[in-house]
Amino acid sequence: MRRKLVAGNWKMNGSLEANARLLAALLELSAKESGSMKAEMAVCIPFPYLPQVAQLLQGSQIAWGAQTLSEFDSGAYTGEVSASMLSDFQCQYVIVGHSERRQVFKESNLQIAQKLRAAITAGLSPILCVGETLEERESGETLSVVYEQLDSVLNTLDPGSCEKLVIAYEPVWAIGTGKTAKPEQAQEIHAALRSRLSEFDKALAEMTPLLYGGSVKADNAESLFGQTDIDGGLIGGASLKAQDFIDICKAVA
Ligand code: PGA
Repeated sequence: MRRKLVAGNWKMNGSLEANARLLAALLELSAKESGSMKAEMAVCIPFPYLPQVAQLLQGSQIAWGAQTLSEFDSGAYTGEVSASMLSDFQCQYVIVGHSERRQVFKESNLQIAQKLRAAITAGLSPILCVGETLEERESGETLSVVYEQLDSVLNTLDPGSCEKLVIAYEPVWAIGTGKTAKPEQAQEIHAALRSRLSEFDKALAEMTPLLYGGSVKADNAESLFGQTDIDGGLIGGASLKAQDFIDICKAVA
């Protein structure tokens, strides 16, 4: 059985007060549901709140992580945060190559591969995001785009070092738009990604969780997570509401 995971991506949202409220509600609701929950839960939060979140979630069933990291280990890189700094705050996860990083901050496939390598070297579990824009989908380039995003990372890695790898398929046109991919549409790409992974390493393809992200809500989560190759979700907007996030986690069968 593959690991199931639902990770919240808070993006640039939150405050000390709002986080404390959200996490208290998440802890309370998840404790009630702990018997029926099949998925691991995680929240990926803005850097400054790592000490707060580490303290509040320590010993709970909710893991935490960051939303990006530096490809460098240390040194003169003003404003950057390294993998070992994330480990200092017991991060388990880090999102790598989110489409907002690719588009707004111009992160390239090469840079994303370096970041992912830095995460793996530090023992973190990277959540690699891949996905096509609407324009790319409409011109029939979906598979070539996601394969290139995946290959550029895999080409720099040794399969033996990838046991903590998580991949999230997030069609850019579905992120924050309320337009979710249809379950069969998402499944088609997930199956393609898994088969691409199996060309790299068969065992890795079987064990790597493939998450879907892009406007996942409590009312569409079950049909998405019911697909053979969808092992959970990466949740933006809906992860900021405790009940919605928990309902999405519960939708993992
Ligand atoms: P969304 O964001 O759920 O708000 O669409 C998903 C993501 O960006 O990871």
